[in-house]
Amino acid sequence: MKNILIIGSTGQIGSELTMKLRGIYNGNVVAGYIPGAEPNEAMKESGPCEIVDITNDKQIAEIVSKYNIDTIYNLAALLSAVAETKPQLAWKIGVGGLCNVLEVAREKKCAVFTPSSIGSFGPDTPRDNTPQDTLQRPKTMYGVTKVSGELLSDYYFNRFGVDTRSVRFPGLISYVTPPGGGTTDYAVDIYYSAAKKEQFVCPIGAGTFMDMMYMPDALRACVEIMEADPAKFVHRNSFNIASMSFDPEIIYNKIKEYEPDFKMVYNVDPLRQGIADSWPNSLDDSCAREEWGWKPEFDLDSMTRDMLAKLKEKFNK
Ligand code: SER
Repeated sequence: MKNILIIGSTGQIGSELTMKLRGIYNGNVVAGYIPGAEPNEAMKESGPCEIVDITNDKQIAEIVSKYNIDTIYNLAALLSAVAETKPQLAWKIGVGGLCNVLEVAREKKCAVFTPSSIGSFGPDTPRDNTPQDTLQRPKTMYGVTKVSGELLSDYYFNRFGVDTRSVRFPGLISYVTPPGGGTTDYAVDIYYSAAKKEQFVCPIGAGTFMDMMYMPDALRACVEIMEADPAKFVHRNSFNIASMSFDPEIIYNKIKEYEPDFKMVYNVDPLRQGIADSWPNSLDDSCAREEWGWKPEFDLDSMTRDMLAKLKEKFNK
């Protein structure tokens, strides 16, 4: 990777990945954003920023040519609960947008990373230790776009040789940019409440297990999969990756070890609960470990210590 374009650079993953890539690579790391989601000062000052709307193929092609881009990180998406309220837009961005990216990548010979998700699975998928290759019949529009994205990405590799690679992310937890409208977001919000010393109202019921990951591990996965030797790949789109699985009780009790006065009550949101119930409890990530050396560094305890320390600093508590 020398010259990189990040589409969706100001979102939940992009805002951190863009800065990380700029710290690693000397070439152009172009932050693509849409009006209304402008980059912050640090992003503006540390490298080129350009308007790149994923639904506009000409705009993507122009920026790829202008900066001689060889790798595209396609991070534009609506998260699961939002996608249920705007299914057409979720399809337009997630599938129409990806088609635009893949066509530009085919013409201009770029590698492409597009995240998939635990949301690509459905209620018929084996729940525990979900295998790499298994049933994917999601019930959400988010999941439909993610499975379509996996298939399109593999198609462009097999048919046209486009170097497409991706991972199925679990819920991502970070203290930097808050996610918007995901089903796993409760596991971010709970830390914000704990750090602000407020009671947390949990929208997901006790006993609902989902895979989660601390953002530093997720960012490392984004870099390592694109740097991996493809000779060892049996899979491409997309690899299961995992680091921890918990339900609201487990994360609550972990936080209480550090914040003994912290209180949580439940007010279950039927939309998010329904989505969570259709997703796996935990993924088997052995293919990612074998084919490109994936290994998480954070567990629930080390993530909790870091999240609470960073958020308390942020809120001066
Ligand atoms: N974090 C995402 C969501 O909850 C899952 O990939 O929508």
